Amino acid sequence: MSVKISPSILGGTFSNMEKIISDINKSKAEYIHFDVMDGDFVPNLTFGPKFISELRNFSDKIFDIHLMINRVEKFLDEYINAGSDIITFHCEVNEDLKEIITKIKKGGVKCGLAIKPKTPWTEIKPYLNFIDQIIIMTVEPGFGGQEFMNDQVDKIKNISDYVKTNKLNVNIEIDGGINYKTGKICVDAGANILVAGSFLFNQGDLITATNKLSDNFN
Ligand code: DX5
Ligand code: ZN
Repeated sequence: MSVKISPSILGGTFSNMEKIISDINKSKAEYIHFDVMDGDFVPNLTFGPKFISELRNFSDKIFDIHLMINRVEKFLDEYINAGSDIITFHCEVNEDLKEIITKIKKGGVKCGLAIKPKTPWTEIKPYLNFIDQIIIMTVEPGFGGQEFMNDQVDKIKNISDYVKTNKLNVNIEIDGGINYKTGKICVDAGANILVAGSFLFNQGDLITATNKLSDNFN
């Protein structure tokens, strides 16, 4: 099984975004991870749909949108129309998850559910049949550069076992604190997409760093 890399642009300098996207285009990454934060669901603010739609013109990579926001339904159409390929929202939001999943799919976009570290994996079980991807958070959502939470590895195993046993077509993406070592732990536990932010951007050359992480698993 191949392992795909989703570089998280949150780890980069926003004023340099055109160059960052162009570097990712030249790398072996198949995805680009966009962390949308609203200062309410998480204690940090990033960007909205305008930012995503403008960058859409510069890349054909898979736009992997991670919504860390409340009021998902209110803003959903804007994220669908921004050129998202996959929209992932959190199972902890106080909304009708099934309705949002249906709306995303109707918009012709793939759909994911994300789960925070303290949420038991069984919360997302009823929805696994209807989604394309799950993002298992291995840090508390809100900021890049945090340390990988080893206590989330059992959750990765439980979810990937369930997906395999039931032959579901769901990608398992891990987000937070990924490097060579923690990435391997996740892949061994059943993950097939790795988000990486600070680990890639801290190495200087984004293309080389991304390719090295990808080569490590493929
Ligand atoms: C955290 C974000 C992550 C973050 C990962 O809330 O969802 O995508 O950018 O960054 P690193 O790889 O630095 O943990
Ligand atoms: Zn993320």
